[in-house]
Amino acid sequence: MTAREQADPCTLVIFGGAGDLSRRKLIPAIYYLAEQKLLPEGFVLLAVARDPGDDASYRKLMREAMATSDEIRKVDEGVWQWLCARTHYATGEFSDEATYAAVAKRLDEIEGSTPDADKNRLFYLAIPPSVFEMTVQHLTMSGLAKRTESYEARPWSRIVIEKPFGRSLESARELNRLVLGCFGEHQVYRIDHYLAKETVQNILVFRFANTIFEPLWNNRWISHVQITAAETVGVETRGKYYEEAGIIRDMFQNHLLQLLTLSALEPPSAITADAVRDEKVKVLRAVRPLLADGEQNIVRAQYAAGTAGGKTVPAYRSESDIAAGSITPTFAAMRVFIDNWRWKGVPFFLRSGKRLAKRTSEIAVQFKAPPLFLFDQKTAEEMAPSLLVMRIQPDEGISFRLHVKTPGAVHELTPGLEFTPVDMDFSYAESFGNEAHPAYETLLLDCMIGDPTLFTRSDEVEMAWSLIDPVLQDWENNPVKEIPTYAAGSWGPSEADALIAKDSAAWR
Ligand code: BG6
Repeated sequence: MTAREQADPCTLVIFGGAGDLSRRKLIPAIYYLAEQKLLPEGFVLLAVARDPGDDASYRKLMREAMATSDEIRKVDEGVWQWLCARTHYATGEFSDEATYAAVAKRLDEIEGSTPDADKNRLFYLAIPPSVFEMTVQHLTMSGLAKRTESYEARPWSRIVIEKPFGRSLESARELNRLVLGCFGEHQVYRIDHYLAKETVQNILVFRFANTIFEPLWNNRWISHVQITAAETVGVETRGKYYEEAGIIRDMFQNHLLQLLTLSALEPPSAITADAVRDEKVKVLRAVRPLLADGEQNIVRAQYAAGTAGGKTVPAYRSESDIAAGSITPTFAAMRVFIDNWRWKGVPFFLRSGKRLAKRTSEIAVQFKAPPLFLFDQKTAEEMAPSLLVMRIQPDEGISFRLHVKTPGAVHELTPGLEFTPVDMDFSYAESFGNEAHPAYETLLLDCMIGDPTLFTRSDEVEMAWSLIDPVLQDWENNPVKEIPTYAAGSWGPSEADALIAKDSAAWR
């Protein structure tokens, strides 16, 4: 792989520049990029937010955000001074036309002596979804952001839209219509930060830079795949948002389906944005509707009180901003089938939840059992030991489990042939040190370079919604008073284990 390119000279305008996302993710990422000298000399930052303030107060806020960030070990004074001199602030309500006039004025001052062709602008909407549409409209009506007909046009204007992109198929379509009425698809960067995780990108490298796994990567050799994104945290301070979203909109429509498409896609003709995204869309198109055949393919649940990190923690319903009788799911498991030649008959189990026993995201690919049991195999693991696990986080890496003969041990029926599962393990930390780059660093740089590979295209977002939407609608149309619960700190409800067990007879 080549070293990352440097970004074009540009002004990064962050709407919501003083908010939580900016403090926790964007500011540390900008610092990282500056530290690695990946930002161009002509880089300028203009943060826009409602809070009153000026350049000096924003620089102070930025410095504090760096000091408290887990992602920055030590702020280098030289890097900070470089960044500080390029940082500006404008106050205003996103609904007020005057805000955009004030931003235009600031941009004129800031970009003053920059040659016209270098007046590239990246607009980052780190704002609540309820004000996306209004902000996009103001941005174009005020002339701050311009539609360009081609990717090559200079100066460029690009727009970054945070998740959630819509809350249903219809609203995602509407948002796409609005955004694509103002911008070309090549100007729109829809964020799914999972895609920028080193290990998520590694799925493609692992599958297509090696030849040995691809011939096995199909329904002939694989019995099932489990994709898990487990978190130990609860909803924390995001109760209001979460009550609206729930686990399906928060994790499945985006992150989990992304992991599914990357695990299952056909080899693209090139690692270019469109070639990869075309293949991802094909996978989504082949997914069997989740409510097909009236089968129970989805389990939802909510966390009850329990323990996390050795402390007693409250039930979801007792967290702040949560309705007393809320049935918002904080956990879901899905059994997904991809009806194409490669995957017909292979269940993909997707599972995610808050307040689970351990923070872990992984893709576990279980290979089939040997056609003949020569060694009196009895347990499921003895019968089908080969398990490939791609660890997305933490402890990023890949392990491959297989059976080996236990030295010297004697098996009753096959003397001398007792076996033990062992793991061949690759760990990113051991091989490369602890240098996993924060996802936002990669994403911001990609926007400035103009590489949309790690961003979701309009058709991809809509396809993902078209899978998820019928489930949400079904739940809405058939309201229930209660959903299963699981104790905080556990591995989720027993119903989820039962879902996986459904197919287990076929694995032997
Ligand atoms: C976000 C969700 O998109 O992803 C959060 O809104 C979730 O609820 C987070 O906690 C998980 O991301 P990560 O990178 O912390 O695993």
